[in-house]
Amino acid sequence: MAIESSCDETACAIVKGGREVIANVVASQIKIHEEFGGVIPEIAAREHLEAINVVIDETFKQAGVTGKDVTAFASTVGPGLVGCLLVGMNAAKTLALAYDKPFIGVNHLNAHLAANFIDTNLEPPFIALLVSGGHTQIIKVSSFSEMEIIGETIDDAVGEAFDKIARVIGLGYPGGPKMDKLAQEGKSNIDLPKVHVEGLDFSFSGLKTAIINLHHKTPDINKADLAASFEKDVAEILLENTKKAVNETNINKIALAGGVSANSYIRKAFKELEEKENIEIYYPELKLCTDNAAMIASAGYYNYLKGNFSDLKLNAVPNLKL
Ligand code: KG4
Ligand code: ZN
Repeated sequence: MAIESSCDETACAIVKGGREVIANVVASQIKIHEEFGGVIPEIAAREHLEAINVVIDETFKQAGVTGKDVTAFASTVGPGLVGCLLVGMNAAKTLALAYDKPFIGVNHLNAHLAANFIDTNLEPPFIALLVSGGHTQIIKVSSFSEMEIIGETIDDAVGEAFDKIARVIGLGYPGGPKMDKLAQEGKSNIDLPKVHVEGLDFSFSGLKTAIINLHHKTPDINKADLAASFEKDVAEILLENTKKAVNETNINKIALAGGVSANSYIRKAFKELEEKENIEIYYPELKLCTDNAAMIASAGYYNYLKGNFSDLKLNAVPNLKL
């Protein structure tokens, strides 16, 4: 059983053998943060406290099991908002203590990758493209425990760029899904500057600024076209570097992960790559792309197999790296 509470979703799930979801409950705080145009950490932490027990009870109910049937209790330790992380960690530690089972602290980034194990038979090695609110990384996953970042953004994360553009053009929070929807009504007919970065690294701030400047200088520009043009360029850049990583490593399996992997254009663009070239593409089903606890449970399972149990004194690590 795992709990996720690193940002704006209070989630709990039970997963069997790392791949089979038995129950998966997510309480979203979107309605609350919408009013402020983004996540307010203190409000988020308080909302987690309000929701956590209900979410845990509902998970046990959906699964038809009790704490005694659970092998281990996991929760996200970072990265994330400290006050939010502590709520989920304390709940998981309490359950572990009460039922005398191991507690496993899970890295949220690692868990986004593990979302690809659910309902699939994906096995390492593979190349992961992690695109979330705070991260844009190409990761060489050699085994369930060995992974190496081989490319990353030198400025904005893709999700962050989606969110900032959405805010400026008036779409509000959460920006990514709203941009996705708007882009479907537009044409990618606006030329934007391409920034070239060495190796497998990325840069998205130039593209983001170009869109924002265009919006300010030409107020009647079609917003749907702006969104579609941005999405197309982002997809091209992500594809180019991930393909390069495949060529350099000779690993012809790509797994997309993180909130932005829910983007319909990006999913389609990668699927086309599978059809054109000899590359297998994996991405989690939509509700497992954004924050959820099933992915934490899956990552927790692989930690459990290795005997990676955590001390109950373990603290939250807000800036934890992969
Ligand atoms: O992985 P995630 O849920 O949380 C983090 O760990 O950061 O990712 C959230 C990010 C946000 O920036 C959000 O705008 C973006 O994922 N996102 C999307 C879509 N759904 C979520 N971006 C583009 N298109 C989407 N459909
Ligand atoms: Zn996340």
